Amino acid sequence: MTKKRRSQAWYGKSDRDGFIHRSWMKNQGFPDHAFDGRPIIGICNTWSELTPCNSGLRELAEGVKRGVWEAGGFPVEFPVMSLGETQMKPTAMLFRNLLAMDVEESIRAYGIDGVVLLGGCDKTTPGQLMGAASVDLPTIVVSSGPMLNGKFKGKDIGSGTDVWKFSEAVRAGEMTLKDFMNAEAGMSRSKGVCMTMGTASTMASVVEAMGMSLPTNAALPAVDARRMALAHLTGKRIVEMVEEDLKLSDVINRASLENAILANAAVGGSTNAVVHLLAVAGRVGIDLTLEDFELGSEIPLLVNCMPSGKYLMEDFCYAGGMPVVLSELKDKLRPANTVMGGDISAYAEGAECYNTNVIRAMDNPLKPAAGLRVLKGNLAPNGAIIKPSAATDALLEHEAEAYVFESIEDMKANIDRDDLPVTPDTILVLKGCGPKGYPGMPEVGNMPIPAKLVKEGVRDMVRISDARMSGTAFGTVVLHVSPEANAGGNLALVATGDRIRLSVKEGALDVLVSDAVLAERRANWTADAPHYTRGYAKLYIDTVMQADKGADLDFLVGKDTRPVTRESH
Ligand code: FES
Repeated sequence: MTKKRRSQAWYGKSDRDGFIHRSWMKNQGFPDHAFDGRPIIGICNTWSELTPCNSGLRELAEGVKRGVWEAGGFPVEFPVMSLGETQMKPTAMLFRNLLAMDVEESIRAYGIDGVVLLGGCDKTTPGQLMGAASVDLPTIVVSSGPMLNGKFKGKDIGSGTDVWKFSEAVRAGEMTLKDFMNAEAGMSRSKGVCMTMGTASTMASVVEAMGMSLPTNAALPAVDARRMALAHLTGKRIVEMVEEDLKLSDVINRASLENAILANAAVGGSTNAVVHLLAVAGRVGIDLTLEDFELGSEIPLLVNCMPSGKYLMEDFCYAGGMPVVLSELKDKLRPANTVMGGDISAYAEGAECYNTNVIRAMDNPLKPAAGLRVLKGNLAPNGAIIKPSAATDALLEHEAEAYVFESIEDMKANIDRDDLPVTPDTILVLKGCGPKGYPGMPEVGNMPIPAKLVKEGVRDMVRISDARMSGTAFGTVVLHVSPEANAGGNLALVATGDRIRLSVKEGALDVLVSDAVLAERRANWTADAPHYTRGYAKLYIDTVMQADKGADLDFLVGKDTRPVTRESH
């Protein structure tokens, strides 16, 4: 135990400062040898009863601790802000960057040598990765794991995806309110994250594809005993990583980010992965762009999970999980280091598919091309995205008149009006839901189909906004329009009756209005005054970057790995 570790600057000194750092920790009953220079491992926990998806992380932390002690390390668990996607208003995304700041400053300020990130619910994984990347210690992820498959009336139901379907069915008079309410408990019947391939499981899948977790982390159900064993093994591994000085930036680089993009396509992952991976890349110092996500457009859809397919994460796990996907992608993956210390190809070694309906082979995919498409044009000069695998094929090439909602309140107040002047061809446009505008870029891009059309059986329309969409949602939905309306993007200038042209084949999104008319409208346009004028929300509105840059705060890009030298006493 001779190597001078970062933690020794806290616990290795025999002066007054060393006394204070050690003595106060000893009030928890830690013996002297806990401070003998062994790796001190921070367990960064987003457990919270207000984040039900992460409610199993207390037990998993105990698993990590067992592994850390076994390997000769000293584990210390600490809490950070938790982001309950379904519980927070106005949107958990507003606070992703605040979590990232909390994680970054907690890791930096404390005397730890390596860190295990315990997260799961949508924004917790990216927020933790972003914060950890800006300190760049040896870092590894253990995810919450998905809930067991939802069950209702003898059938599997998926979180999120079936909520959207059920609520449309209630609006269409095809499902009773009583059944709708009864489905609630059956949908969420164990701890864990949404068991569809929503943002949480998408992020866990891309984390595994980046080599930032141990293999199988993404899909093991939250309540499967093997997840506890994985936590234990992760605890052992992080101690070795500290000894090997294998830092986060040794694992997350351009190659691993490209692998994340490829994997995101193959699993039919969430559009939210775009904004999160861009933000993580910014922290690590990689110039990842929206165009880089086109890498995934040649990748077939292999994982048959909702919302792009029909199965759920439990099925994905039992079919073999991410190791099988990585095995199918082996000819496409970039050579890239992992937290295991070897190449990502090792994650696929020995992988066997046990259900070829759930995980398809490259030569028998669910869809031939699954990746996200980037759209550009005068309606989105800096880009927008669409997820064709969750869209209606016939709408991917579409030109029609727009019906514009100026705000979320406008949309909610009017979408179900019987006299709303829309047809199934109309393109619905929603403004004011970008990072600055809402604020926080909520998941409202998959706005409901107008009630009068739902009654006629319409289930999809082209919808365009500067918002995001839940990873569990589906539809022909153009998202992340940049610049957003509140930042003065052309989206702000679109009016009801304008013709809009969407061509996914050409990657084009244009409002068919002359430059002169747009210039005239711009001259009369002013941004709405922000609703939030103080605190973190003001800081966010003032400094958040646009979606095509990952919606990080501009002053948080990059990292600071300098030692902390000053003492508080
Ligand atoms: Fe937490 Fe879906 S709401 S993972």
